[in-house]
Amino acid sequence: MANDNKLQAIIGHCKEYGFIFQSSEIYDGLSAVYDYGQYGAELKKNIRDYWWRSMTQMQDNIVGIDAAIFMHPTVWKASGHVDNFSDPMIDNKDSQKRYRVDHLIEGYAETLEADAAAAIIKQMELLLEANDFAGLKSLIEDNKINCAISGTCNWTDVRQFNLMFSTEMGSVADEANVVYLRPETAQGIFVNFLNVQKTGRMKIPFGIAQTGKAFRNEIVARGFIFRMREFEQMEMQFFVKPGTQKEWYEYWKETRMKWHLSLGIGADKYKFHDHVKLAHYADMACDIEYDFPMGFKEVEGVHSRTDFDLKQHQQFSGKKLTYFDTDINQHYVPYVIETSIGLDRTVMMILSEAYVEEDLSTEEKQDSRVVLKFPPMLAPIKLAVLPLTKKDGLPELAKELINDCRSQFKCFYEEKDSIGKRYRRMDALGTPFCVTIDHQTKEDGTVTIRYRDSMQQERIALADVKKLVMEKIAMF
Ligand code: GAP
Repeated sequence: MANDNKLQAIIGHCKEYGFIFQSSEIYDGLSAVYDYGQYGAELKKNIRDYWWRSMTQMQDNIVGIDAAIFMHPTVWKASGHVDNFSDPMIDNKDSQKRYRVDHLIEGYAETLEADAAAAIIKQMELLLEANDFAGLKSLIEDNKINCAISGTCNWTDVRQFNLMFSTEMGSVADEANVVYLRPETAQGIFVNFLNVQKTGRMKIPFGIAQTGKAFRNEIVARGFIFRMREFEQMEMQFFVKPGTQKEWYEYWKETRMKWHLSLGIGADKYKFHDHVKLAHYADMACDIEYDFPMGFKEVEGVHSRTDFDLKQHQQFSGKKLTYFDTDINQHYVPYVIETSIGLDRTVMMILSEAYVEEDLSTEEKQDSRVVLKFPPMLAPIKLAVLPLTKKDGLPELAKELINDCRSQFKCFYEEKDSIGKRYRRMDALGTPFCVTIDHQTKEDGTVTIRYRDSMQQERIALADVKKLVMEKIAMF
């Protein structure tokens, strides 16, 4: 299947099967904001759990926190986000109306034929990527893109636009403080560095992990859940002794790549992309890229952030953020290696990897199925229990099995339609195991278990089902 088609097929499948919906769809949607439906929410939670357990429970020296989304406004001044976290905008000199450059050009593109629209969007994206503001202005002027209010093409130069969303905290408008919706979760870790170190009696090297929402008023927000305005991050800051950052950076690059491979995804689907142009806080940085239907794109970043953030917070807050290293009897501001992965992007990666359209046609008949081949530990539903008929005590046996299993993993009961149709529906939801309860179950206590990927079926003891599923879905 062509890659463009694959992305469209995944988007359609996610909507049809209750994984992901456009936010506020009945109001025609909100751009680059998505809601997770009943199966998407389970999938996302399972991925988050797997990351959380890998990064905290399975480590000796990493603990997890849950910091608030709102933070003191000075945090974002100190971190550099108020001054540096921005995208281009332009003003019309006659109407004084301000536009985001991408919105202006996209609005114009919508008035064009498909080919011309695609060409101008492509040009815009290249210029945005190159930070070529003069080129963006020329693109607007050359295409005679006018302001909707004044109708003129009299534009200022292109300038930067901050990506942070802001709101006001406090009930009286005059006295209210501007607060930001955090654009990364990392700062909640930095400002709590000493709280955690002291209360947890943590010894360097140690890490603090957290997952949570982040918000960015993205300029080019498209690609389904790849680039959203509200999204979730899973980040870990690893505090190390200055001078040891290179070895820890290499360690975390390798460790995070191993985590990706543990999802059952082939090494050929990943590559590292080392940053040539480093962010102001970094001395080494790379992306882990996955081969999405749109090509290789970043799913995770590993950054050596030096002591930039802690030093900035020290300076802006006036509070010491040093660590006393008893091994060398010295105080210092630790260096930090950060691993930062987007949860929604990981959901999209898992969906891209799992989505398969299989042709099952034989000489006798045409047949096909859409199957989501999720790793069993991540599947939204682990076990479907299907009584062959609605009578003869089969539903009761099925429900007994579910009641026995449901405290350990998510089960699904279905008695409508033929068994074949029910299997196909479970394939489309990515359920790795289906168990059919039939009349023989009553006689000899066995059931048919059907494996999603191979579609193989075998007869096993009803009493063994729970153990088998538990073994297959174990994360570690
Ligand atoms: N604390 C470092 C940081 O935030 P980043 O490279 O800007 O670094 C880290 O973001 C990860 O967050 C990215 O690799 C990506 O997976 C995810 N991410 C960033 N912006 C996103 C967006 N608009 N929508 C979805 N995921 C996003």
